[in-house]
Amino acid sequence: MKVHETQTQVPILQRQIHGKKLVYLDNAATTQKPESVITAISDYYRTHNANVHRGVHTLSDESTERYEQARQKIAAFFGARADQLISTRNSTEAMNLLVQMWEKFLRPGDVIVVTMQEHHSTLVPWQMVSQRTGCEFIVLPMDDQSTWPINAFAELLQEKKDRLRVVATAAVSNVTGVVAPLEKIDAQLRKWGVRKNVLVAVDAAQSAAHMPSRLDRWPVDALTFSGHKMYGPMGIGGLVVSERLAQEIAPVLYGGGMIAEVRTQETSFHEDFAERFTAGTPDVASLVGLQAAIEFLEEIGWSELQAHEHDLVQYAYEQLQQVPQVRLIGPEPGAEFASRVGSVTWTYEGVHAHDVAQILDRSGVAVRSGHHCTMPLHTEQDWVATTRASFAVYNTREDIDQLIAALEQVQTIFGV
Ligand SMILES: Cc1ncc(COP(=O)(O)O)c(C=O)c1O
Repeated sequence: MKVHETQTQVPILQRQIHGKKLVYLDNAATTQKPESVITAISDYYRTHNANVHRGVHTLSDESTERYEQARQKIAAFFGARADQLISTRNSTEAMNLLVQMWEKFLRPGDVIVVTMQEHHSTLVPWQMVSQRTGCEFIVLPMDDQSTWPINAFAELLQEKKDRLRVVATAAVSNVTGVVAPLEKIDAQLRKWGVRKNVLVAVDAAQSAAHMPSRLDRWPVDALTFSGHKMYGPMGIGGLVVSERLAQEIAPVLYGGGMIAEVRTQETSFHEDFAERFTAGTPDVASLVGLQAAIEFLEEIGWSELQAHEHDLVQYAYEQLQQVPQVRLIGPEPGAEFASRVGSVTWTYEGVHAHDVAQILDRSGVAVRSGHHCTMPLHTEQDWVATTRASFAVYNTREDIDQLIAALEQVQTIFGV
């Protein structure tokens, strides 16, 4: 499928908002859904719905088959096998689950590291477990160019490297579009000789729809994702773990489906990894919907998708630079796709971000304003709130032109 064909595949893009063509630039919050995803979900409920595994009837078999196919497809997309995938509701739940499973390995004085630009869904669970276990929680400050603070990591952790147990970070920041240098982090850990003591956990929520986000290519132990940010339905996401980690972790959710044998005073758990980590009825329809979303992405292909999205990021950055009141945040997109991924964020001099977003909405342009669940970053940088335009494969340069034209309204209304 060609990039320009995707626009007609997504029904909601036909909507008008306040009498104007909808320009949806809030894709980092959630992407819109292709017809194929919507159909896959309704087809599942219309034709195959039954609980998985526990039945011997035909529908249960069909449902189980679809469930397992979907899990295989999703795991493969993230460079893993189905028995390395724990399905969750979203990336937040996946990170929380990982934290809970890792807690038993943490001791007072151990060190957990994140960066200032982490989404709260990474920062808060690790901060909380640090408090519970007496670990030292280090939040690396961003460097001057707002890129991932690899130098601060090397300098600040030099003395503490032997106590380092966790590095948790987003593969792509939802505010600055910065890509984490996973290879460099890994190289530093190896240089210190501590790699095997450290859990490297990557939040792939903002990378999964924009670049290959794969456990078999990234030097990391676990990744988390949200299906709804990659053209799939809300309510489905996952935690993908390395083979090493799969051996080490134990379930923290108990109940039906994940057991082998239950007695009044003791329980043994399912041999199979996926079963052991799936307590209760899984969201089969959403897994099937996410499979369709992955097929949508595969039909486009990474090279065409990335060329298009990088053009959008560069074009938006250039156009916004021309608006005198706009102060852009994060690195300038260079020639490389990985120089800035997925979004462009700014402050508007003299006007609060919520006012900017509201005025843009009157012109049919949907953007996000606020702290984007990165309060520590906003506080560190002294931004009250920022406005973000984030892109998907179905966006066009014309969408950005409509955004820029709508920004002129801000000037007119506020007289700044
Ligand atoms: C970088 C990043 N991580 C995690 C999340 C959390 O995603 P969810 O709310 O789907 O769990 C988001 C959501 O915006 C995000 O941008």
